[in-house]
This record gives sequence, C-alpha cells and structure tokens, in this order.
Amino acid sequence: MAETGRKPAVPAQPAPGATESERTAPASPDAAASPTAQPAGAAREPLLEVDNVTLRFGGVVALDQVNFTLYKGEILGLIGPNGAGKTTCFNAMTGIYQPTEGEIRFRGSRLSGKKRHQITKMGMARTFQNIRLFPEMTALENVQVGADTHHKTSVISALFRLPRHWREERDGREKAEQLLEFVGIRDRIDEVARNLSYGEQRRLEIARALATEPVLLCLDEPAAGFNPAEKEELLQLIRQIRDRGVTVLLIEHDMRLVMGVTDRIVVLEFGKKIAEGLPAEVREDHRVIAAYLGVPEDAA
Ligand SMILES: Nc1ncnc2c1ncn2[C@@H]1O[C@H](COP(=O)(O)OP(=O)(O)O)[C@@H](O)[C@H]1O
Ligand SMILES: [Mg+2]
Repeated sequence: MAETGRKPAVPAQPAPGATESERTAPASPDAAASPTAQPAGAAREPLLEVDNVTLRFGGVVALDQVNFTLYKGEILGLIGPNGAGKTTCFNAMTGIYQPTEGEIRFRGSRLSGKKRHQITKMGMARTFQNIRLFPEMTALENVQVGADTHHKTSVISALFRLPRHWREERDGREKAEQLLEFVGIRDRIDEVARNLSYGEQRRLEIARALATEPVLLCLDEPAAGFNPAEKEELLQLIRQIRDRGVTVLLIEHDMRLVMGVTDRIVVLEFGKKIAEGLPAEVREDHRVIAAYLGVPEDAA
C-alpha cells in the first residue's frame, strides 16, 4: 500500500459517526476493548437498523427474523458459514431484494421500495463478493463511474464523454487519483481493470465504492483469495477508511481478519442471528464455535 504524505483522499464529508470533538477525543480507558468506543456517556447513534428482516427465496429462508443495529463510526463484522445469509443481507440493504417481512432503516429512513441508486445517493456503498468492475475500462474510469453517482452526468454520458461530463471531468480525475492513491494503486491509474492483479481489482472496487462518498461502506468478503500479507494490508486499509469517518460493515469469512479489525460482530447461521457482541465474546460463544467447526477458514 502506498504510504505517502499527500493529502487524504477520502472522505470528502465530515465523519458521520462523530462530532469533531468526539473524533479527536483521547481514548478512554474503556476504549481498550473497542477502538471506536465512544467517550463515556456519548449516545451511540444508529446508522443502519435491520429490523426483524425475513427474506425467502421460494422455500429457502435466506434471512430469518434478523435484527441488528450498526452505529455510526464503528466497524461491524457480519460473519457466518457459507450460505448463512450474509450476502443476502447486503442485497436486502442495497435494494437488490426487498425483505419478505420486516424493514431496514438507513439514517432513519425506511429503505423499502427504494431503488439501488437512491440508496447509493443516501450514502451507502458496497463491494461485491464476486468482483464487479468494467473490465475494459481503466482504473481511473472505473472510479469515475462511481463518482458520477454524485454528479449530474449519468454513467452513459461518462462512458461516452458527452459535453456535460467534460466540465466535471477535471474535478473527477483529481478525486479519482486521490482515491486510487488511498487504496494503494495510484500507479495503475491508466491500466484497464482486467489487467490488474486480483488484489488490485479488489482495491479498485473499494476506491469505486468510496467515490460515491458513502457514510456506510459494505464490504462483501474483500479479503477472499488474499494471502496473509495482503490480508494485513487490507486490514490497515479498512481501519484507515473508518478513521476518515466512514462506518464499515464487513462480511468476512476469515475469523482472524474479523477479530483483528471489527468493533462488534454479528453472526449468522442458516439465516438466523446466532450471536452478537465484542470479538472476544463472539470467539468464545459455543454456538459460533459449533457453526464454524469443520468449515475451512477460507471456504467462501
Ligand atoms: N437469488 C437467490 N435465489 C435463491 N436462493 C438464493 C438467492 N440468493 C441467495 N440464496 C440462498 O440464500 C441462502 C443464503 O445465501 P447467501 O446470502 O449468499 O449466503 P452467504 O453470503 O452467507 O454465503 C443460501 O441458501 C443461498 O442459496
Ligand atoms: Mg456471500
């Protein structure tokens, strides 16, 4: 990852999870267990509320009365064995599927009936378990497509470089450059996405998601297929993203990675929430241990 002295690239907006004084407040002794623990007495502000959500695909109950709240400024891990419903949860949050029952609220607003692009505009961005980039477009262009959610130009005018796009392009390029630098692939800016290494593509997806200026970034198994060194770098990147004010929801199968970076963890199994708590609590939970028993760490 690039370590440079350049000015930070993200986010453009102030930290959604904290006031200036909260962000700069020294950690209290209680903060040891959780790097984002708020100062004593500070109310935790809900950012995303998953309220009794059930989602069925025919006979398959992918989510079964799932409840959890994500608070501003935290890194929440969403874990569970393969098929537990983690990706379905993201899909319900981002407007790809509507819950069969229950509701999801983001920044206090119900998401039911909202389209994907509306939810993106509300400040939620995600990456995909299976990388979804435009393979023939450069790294820069892939990020600019993300940034265009906040511009008047559509993806189409960006793709075909229509006039309104030209006016916004200079700003867009600078921002995209900063984002690529932030995720550590500034040197690959003009390379087409399909020529990037797997790890670079994962970073590019994160840069593209950040280009929408989210308050909540949802990462679906961002470290899948990474070696230990790459995982460690990703962990640092996730911390940096949070430190710049973006709340993070992290789906991850690698227990070690999750334990090292999250403030709290929600565990799903067969669509049901089976545990929730601090990483140390969840690691000791017998239901979690049983759920993971016999499942290779990197099975996805
Ligand atoms: N579009 C779909 N149609 C039918 N079943 C689905 C669909 N998406 C997910 N499922 C099912 O829902 C369950 C949860 O899947 P998923 O959310 O992908 O799990 P995870 O991400 O935790 O591995 C699985 O049984 C899966 O087969
Ligand atoms: Mg999944």
